[in-house]
Amino acid sequence: MRDKIVAGNWKMNLNFEDAIQLATNINAWVADNHPIAQVIIAPSSIYLQTLLEGVDEQYVKIASQDIAAHEKGAYTGDVSAEQLDSIGLDFAIIGHSERREYQFETDEIIAAKLKQAFKYQISPIFCVGEKLEERESEKHFEVVKSQIVNALKSQKAEDLSRLIIAYEPVWAIGTGKTASPEQAQEIHAFIRKVLNDEFGTDVANNTSILYGGSVNAQNANQIFAQPDIDGGLVGGASLKYEDFTQIISACK
Ligand code: G3P
Repeated sequence: MRDKIVAGNWKMNLNFEDAIQLATNINAWVADNHPIAQVIIAPSSIYLQTLLEGVDEQYVKIASQDIAAHEKGAYTGDVSAEQLDSIGLDFAIIGHSERREYQFETDEIIAAKLKQAFKYQISPIFCVGEKLEERESEKHFEVVKSQIVNALKSQKAEDLSRLIIAYEPVWAIGTGKTASPEQAQEIHAFIRKVLNDEFGTDVANNTSILYGGSVNAQNANQIFAQPDIDGGLVGGASLKYEDFTQIISACK
């Protein structure tokens, strides 16, 4: 049975006071409303320990927005899986398209990050998705398949019990241009088939595949109703308490 998950990727937003306030309010809402979906919040890394201590993990889980590709050493500014594990972190976003774009993360770098996450029992929210020009040239299936295969090829099926995948078409991120439920379902089903072909039925059937890219309170119900969409990775709307809690309620 796949977990239903709604994760908020806060990106580089919110000061300390606002971050604590929003996390506390979401935690209280989850405690009062008992949503079906597992709720995850991914704040900037400087807030991780405070939020881990500030929320009740039976209601809200905390994720980092990245993990270092190396285990330890002279990598100024990086934060390792071992360090994140040592503060009790259980989830991490890995391979977000903004890091592929602005930090030049390749499939090989992302594969190394995933390896670190699995080694320290951190569940990776592994992001894949095509650019506009790749969709317009009908290359989106090929692109997403190569991102999955290249990043996971060194893993064995038994390593992947913690894997979460987020399909985020780059052209839908922050643009207000959401993939239609049919477009999202089509590629989610394709991703599940790739998992089946590469790693077998159990991995395919048990891996939660989230949709990300302009999810909001108005479109969440339709998107989450699709059979191969197990929840969402939400950016902008996750910073707004009312919108995010409505999106969580839509995931059932
Ligand atoms: O990781 C989620 C994010 O990339 C989606 O952003 O603002 O389109 O929901 P947004």
